[in-house]
Amino acid sequence: MPPINPADLIRDDRVHRAVYVDTGVFALEQERVFRTAWLYAGHESQVPAPGDYAKVMLGPDEVLLVRQADGSLAMLHNRCPHRGSCLVGEARGHLPRFRCPYHAWTFGLDGHLIGVPMSDGYAGELDLRDPALQLVRVARVESYRGFIFASHAATGPSLTEFLGSLASALDNMVDRAPAGTLTQAGGTLRMAYRGNWKLFMENATDLVHPSVVHESSVAAARGHREALDADPQTAQTLQMLLSNGLGMPQWAAVPLHADPHGHVYMGGFYKSGMIAPARTDPVFERYRDALVARHGEAGTTRILGVDRFNNLIWPNLSVNARFGVLRQVQPVSVNHTVVTSTCFRFDGAPSEMFDLTLQFLNTASSASSMVASDDLEIFERCQRGLEENGEHWIDIRRGRAGDSRAADGSVAAPGTSELPIRNQMQAWISHMQAGSSGKRD
Ligand code: FES
Ligand SMILES: [Fe+2]
Repeated sequence: MPPINPADLIRDDRVHRAVYVDTGVFALEQERVFRTAWLYAGHESQVPAPGDYAKVMLGPDEVLLVRQADGSLAMLHNRCPHRGSCLVGEARGHLPRFRCPYHAWTFGLDGHLIGVPMSDGYAGELDLRDPALQLVRVARVESYRGFIFASHAATGPSLTEFLGSLASALDNMVDRAPAGTLTQAGGTLRMAYRGNWKLFMENATDLVHPSVVHESSVAAARGHREALDADPQTAQTLQMLLSNGLGMPQWAAVPLHADPHGHVYMGGFYKSGMIAPARTDPVFERYRDALVARHGEAGTTRILGVDRFNNLIWPNLSVNARFGVLRQVQPVSVNHTVVTSTCFRFDGAPSEMFDLTLQFLNTASSASSMVASDDLEIFERCQRGLEENGEHWIDIRRGRAGDSRAADGSVAAPGTSELPIRNQMQAWISHMQAGSSGKRD
């Protein structure tokens, strides 16, 4: 087979189906996207004390996020240099050192080899300081306001350069916490689908789809408007379902913003009742008062005035700052993807605010959600359709004439544009053509 040339797969207005279904393309993007870009790797609140660790996927690699004795963070490959066993099986925990479950080699929290049983069997050939016998560290690990990102590439843009204007989404989530910090809480939701990872990222800011794909849950919600007067959680879910039923002119009025590096955000479309950006109920008033105590009246108005829904940090993170939710897209194979959703307490906020965060997550991102199950069905239909050996190209032209480019390289467009897909594909092709991190030999 001839080598894959990614440039042959993308046009300004079209994408070749191989981008979604070809195993060679998938292998190449694991190297050139997921072993190169900055990827979200966890939150500082998951590992508060020295010895705390969390096992996370960083692209194709299983790694350990570890709080060091001096309070700093390290990220180590979960792989013993002896014969390759994974060191840790639990998702998170606390250990003074790592002990391999196979032959009991032990390693410090920073990955250095401490001891080897039966060391006399090496006849003096074993040097505990041999670089090949230490746990491999991920090249770059950085925290941005508590959100930890890592990159397998030793060189490339800094994290803040990479995040660009999308850092504002993370800023806004932290600023919404009256105590100025977030705590990850409430567990993790996972959804799997038989489709390519890009289908999720493309869908998250596709604003033509909700009133079509989610038509049945919109209709069900319209038949139960009396539930708007029920308890806050029920009212919130009903408002969320109803909001997917906007007309096309209303969807077009939702702003889209595309950033260099492939990032995108969309404006908010939750405008009324429990999910309006500025509510008037007693819980929200208490929350607002706590924010005013920290940020002042003008600062609070500015923070709560940031009305956005999905903020996509390419290649695989979706941030919803208002509801304190992250969704991370993990490619498993070319046609198998897992989406992991986590959420945060706004420290210092009334506890009822977190109840609504949990409700938001369950309504929007649970595998049993009336909304997400529609999307998963569409992803699987797209994958099956793209696997057909018929027409090779799909169309991403919608709204192209309405793109409005600013001097800083960002592009704005009406909500019904396919600008986000075009922008993600630009980042994809630039990574795919740039080559690999060069880290792995
Ligand atoms: S594989 Fe880890 S000690 Fe042998
Ligand atoms: Fe959807």
